[in-house]
Amino acid sequence: MTASTSDIEKAAGVLRAGGLVALPTETVYGLGANAEDPAAVARIFRVKGRPSSHPLIVHLGGAEYLDDWVEDVPATARLLAEHFWPGPLTLVLRRGPRVPLEATGGLETVAVRVPDHPVGLALLSAFGGGVTAPSANRFGSVSPTTADHVRAELGEAVDFVLDGGPCEVGVESTIVDVTGDAPSILRPGGVTREDLEAVLGCPLEVPSTSRVRVPGQHPSHYAPRARVVLVEPEKVVAEAGLAQELGHRVGVFLPAFLADAPVKAHAVVTVPSSMAAYAHGLYGFLRELDQQGCDLIIASVPVEEGLGLAIANRLRRAAGPRPS
Ligand code: TXA
Ligand code: MG
Repeated sequence: MTASTSDIEKAAGVLRAGGLVALPTETVYGLGANAEDPAAVARIFRVKGRPSSHPLIVHLGGAEYLDDWVEDVPATARLLAEHFWPGPLTLVLRRGPRVPLEATGGLETVAVRVPDHPVGLALLSAFGGGVTAPSANRFGSVSPTTADHVRAELGEAVDFVLDGGPCEVGVESTIVDVTGDAPSILRPGGVTREDLEAVLGCPLEVPSTSRVRVPGQHPSHYAPRARVVLVEPEKVVAEAGLAQELGHRVGVFLPAFLADAPVKAHAVVTVPSSMAAYAHGLYGFLRELDQQGCDLIIASVPVEEGLGLAIANRLRRAAGPRPS
């Protein structure tokens, strides 16, 4: 059920009292706290099981509040904010005094964004301040795209879950660092590289998954319980059959062009051919295969254009080496 006005008031009250609220955004659900309350921010890290050195994103109710939270905003940042906010773009800027170091993991920069979700924005407006929120999942696991995902994963650890329905975009925001000489993408996400480049009028560098540049971006992240193995699209069916024969409970991400192919596997998800639909469904698919008891997921990465870049990034991280 989607949140009512009284739910929004209640959630704002929880934030004011130093509590944690799971809030809907257009990308994924966030685990929110009053950005200016270090004790509440510290609780986010405990609930997530996230190292306190990993910085959080501060969510604002509108671009007009940007200067209350950051310093030395370059023209590039204003241009991007004007074009993409509210929306799935996070800007890394110089931290202003209002942002406690607890929220930035000790960094002098801070990540900020204005989410594009009516319920999330209504909460930010009712609360009136900034809300620090990482994705509302345990550290390293798959981000939640419905209120039920949050309840299933965090349960009583969160004081209030504000239900805004399923998240439309389905993958996290694109993070752009605008503190250097040239803007750079730290994490591909809901705003495409092509759209950013069109606005900026210059090419943007994208980090390779193997290099860890952003604090908090370990190789294995966004990972389901099942091990994820990536193969070429045309090998998905054969690899799945082989692994199933070897005794695995195999979940398959079947490429759209193979939709009618017979597959020997425990569970099959046919991947949507539209990248927007794929991004929207991605985390739900991973959760579903976990739920069906798969111990191995065979998938392939889409062409790394448009939203395909963010999808490929998340799949590569899900398939990355896990801490033993
Ligand atoms: O779509 C999203 O961005 C979602 C929704 C809830 O807004 N949030 C999200 O938060 O994905 P989280 O904490 O799961 O990921 C935030 C990323 C982390 O990888 C963190 O390292 C990076 O943002 N980040 C935050 N502050 C940063 C900073 N000052 N410099 C560089 N990276 C930063
Ligand atoms: Mg996250």
